Amino acid sequence: MAGDAMRLRPARAADLAALVALEQAVFSGDRMAARQFRHHMDSPSGELVVAVGRDRALLGYALLLRRRGSRVGRIYSIAVTAQARGSGLGRGLLEHLESLARAHGLTEIRLEVRKDNAGAIGLYQRAGYEIFGERAAYYEDGMDAWRMRKGLGD
Ligand SMILES: CC(C)(COP(=O)(O)OP(=O)(O)OC[C@H]1O[C@@H](n2cnc3c(N)ncnc32)[C@H](O)[C@@H]1OP(=O)(O)O)[C@@H](O)C(=O)NCCC(=O)NCCS
Repeated sequence: MAGDAMRLRPARAADLAALVALEQAVFSGDRMAARQFRHHMDSPSGELVVAVGRDRALLGYALLLRRRGSRVGRIYSIAVTAQARGSGLGRGLLEHLESLARAHGLTEIRLEVRKDNAGAIGLYQRAGYEIFGERAAYYEDGMDAWRMRKGLGD
């Protein structure tokens, strides 16, 4: 993994501009706006984690959502800058969210992923996520989603 060249920490208000810029650069639709990032930073049911490089530049982020009374968490989004891909950062963010989920007593994580997003599907499958369903026309442009899940038992 990218190791000591980067670190993971909770997102804070000072990260907002960089988060929005990353979202713009990485996604062509269904983007989160500053207001939503801000909401998740402040919400007790959101875990918004950022990866920063040695120079403190934002390299990626990931967002886990929890719901009161549910032991199932949801990975809402994960993104790594194009320059930082392929060095284990996505995997590191994912594993970090899983450990936060376990710490909150969650037993399962679910997510949706575009059927045409081979990179993200590959990331999730390598990390032990399985397809268990689909959602038709889930995205703004009409693309379908796979639903994936992973149990957090030992
Ligand atoms: C998906 C994404 C987060 C992966 O980040 P990354 O830092 O490049 O991923 P990693 O280097 O940690 O790779 C993790 C695993 O996924 C696999 N993987 C990554 N990109 C892949 C690709 N394009 N095709 C197939 N598998 C891929 C790797 O083989 C790796 O497996 P390994 O650990 O067994 O070697 C990154 O490509 C990204 O930001 N994409 C755009 C945003 C996006 O689509 N987000 C997901 C939808 S919300």
